Amino acid sequence: MNYLIDTHSHINMIEERSLEEILQQAKEHNVKKIIVPSAYPSDIETVYNLSQKYEEIYCYLGVHPSEAKDWDDSLIDKIKEFAKSPKVVGIGEIGLDYYWDKSFNNIQQEVFIKQIQLANELNLPINIHDREAHKDTFDILKEHNKNSKVIMHCFSGSKEFARECSQEGWYIAIGGVVTFKNAIKMKEVATSIPLDKLLLETDAPYLTPVPFRGKENQPAYTKFIAEEIANLRNLTIDEIAKITTNNAIEVFGL
Ligand code: NI
Repeated sequence: MNYLIDTHSHINMIEERSLEEILQQAKEHNVKKIIVPSAYPSDIETVYNLSQKYEEIYCYLGVHPSEAKDWDDSLIDKIKEFAKSPKVVGIGEIGLDYYWDKSFNNIQQEVFIKQIQLANELNLPINIHDREAHKDTFDILKEHNKNSKVIMHCFSGSKEFARECSQEGWYIAIGGVVTFKNAIKMKEVATSIPLDKLLLETDAPYLTPVPFRGKENQPAYTKFIAEEIANLRNLTIDEIAKITTNNAIEVFGL
């Protein structure tokens, strides 16, 4: 049986379980590697320290678009210093979020571009947060990204947008929403994207898959996402595990 990788999981934000319990349950559900993104500037050191302490934990460093007003250029040197560690496998989560607050789109874009340039300089992949900002996210990446691999985290676009992204060579990470009964659009995306661009993630503690929808999410539940995609594509869960784990190993150099 191939193991699974949760490529985006805020395990530092899970409240109902201890870290030891989270890692133990992940192991029991065959989830052997977990990548933890930072969101707030204050998370950067937290997730970095987790990656240094636990063998199965890796991290992305960056500032989430909703926190763009807290960006400070001194973070560039801090991230560069931490990125000397091989456990730092990307810049993220970064991007645009026009859902929560549209009042500082220009600041979001500025901070996004700075972090793309940082990822390019470090030659690290970029883990993208795009919520209700598909066009601007796409256009900014096309214009500013030179050499970094791109991963669309918690993909929420149409199958047409997924095709456009995969044609650019970008990866599509699918989470718990695909297991929701009424998530027709996500099921179409999961069925139609090229398998060599598919990644799995939980985005824990959010977006918990069925059958635990409504409860707090955790990396162990990557299993249910893999199961759903396997069913949709008439593959076995072991085949989905093999494909997505190989993709993650390749894109993040794990
Ligand atoms: Ni996230």
